Amino acid sequence: MILVLVTSAHSPNRLIRSVVQEIQASGETCLISTVPSLFLLYDNSGRAQILHHQQGMIEPNVIFHWVGGRQAYSTLDALELGGYRLINPLNAWRIGRNKAMQLALFEREGIAHPWTLFAQDVSWARITDHLEWDGQEYVFKPHNAGRGRDVQKTRQERMAANMYSRTPRYREGVLIQEYLDHAPKLRHHFRVNVIGGEPVTGTEIRATGGNWLTNQAQGGDILSPEYGVEDIPGDAIRLALRATRAIGADYSGVDVIEGSDGAFYVLETNEFPGFGERTGPYLGKHIVEVARQESARSPS
Ligand SMILES: Nc1ncnc2c1ncn2[C@@H]1O[C@H](COP(=O)(O)OP(=O)(O)O)[C@@H](O)[C@H]1O
Ligand SMILES: [Mg+2]
Repeated sequence: MILVLVTSAHSPNRLIRSVVQEIQASGETCLISTVPSLFLLYDNSGRAQILHHQQGMIEPNVIFHWVGGRQAYSTLDALELGGYRLINPLNAWRIGRNKAMQLALFEREGIAHPWTLFAQDVSWARITDHLEWDGQEYVFKPHNAGRGRDVQKTRQERMAANMYSRTPRYREGVLIQEYLDHAPKLRHHFRVNVIGGEPVTGTEIRATGGNWLTNQAQGGDILSPEYGVEDIPGDAIRLALRATRAIGADYSGVDVIEGSDGAFYVLETNEFPGFGERTGPYLGKHIVEVARQESARSPS
């Protein structure tokens, strides 16, 4: 049995609907639930039991979770510590939400990324000492946001000081990166969706209206639906696969950008990627595959 944890069991989004459809088509049973519908029972039986408020005791082989909200975290942690197989594993899920953690792994694995300085709770005066203001352009971004929020760039020290003081969340953690340019090409990045170690879907996203940010949430244009993962350069795909493996994720949406040297660099892996209808079925298939492996490993 496959447990699908969502924030609203009654009105699941399109992704969840397509995942569930795929699971059902495979013949596996599937229960969609919210975290507040579950109890964990610690009854000296040797395993944390899951009690669903309507279904009674359930024994999932795999738990696929797509929930935000801090209140869920203890339940997810307890489930994983209790021996249940979560997709994504929580470590990968946390790393996928934290660019500073990702970079530590990319660094260890030799996965190309922009030069970056990470600082937490540090004054501007102390940070600027470690930056080179002679012609270098820097991108500033929070380590734990997304969708291009609070991502800014400058080549001027005075402007950087202003940005830093006007963006309180930088104090909680800021990445200062070399700006990767690929002019005269249009500004773009690749989003590679990796599931179960395979590049399943992907696209190129182009900045619009003179914007340098390429996020779709910032007005970036996704190339037509016919554009597929096979149109993305092989080097960018290989980087995305390595980045996903490095963080230990079953699935990830990886942002890869080209530098002025024509080489590719990983910007980030995303834990809640905007997987659409095309990607949902791949995710469903992967969940089924893992569930079958798990039940072969420990038949209940
Ligand atoms: N070092 C960089 N060089 C050039 N462009 C960057 C750099 N970092 C971020 N960007 C631009 O900003 C966008 C958002 O950055 P990203 O690291 O993907 O964070 P998020 O999407 O989580 O906000 C990217 O899609 C890219 O267009
Ligand atoms: Mg991004």
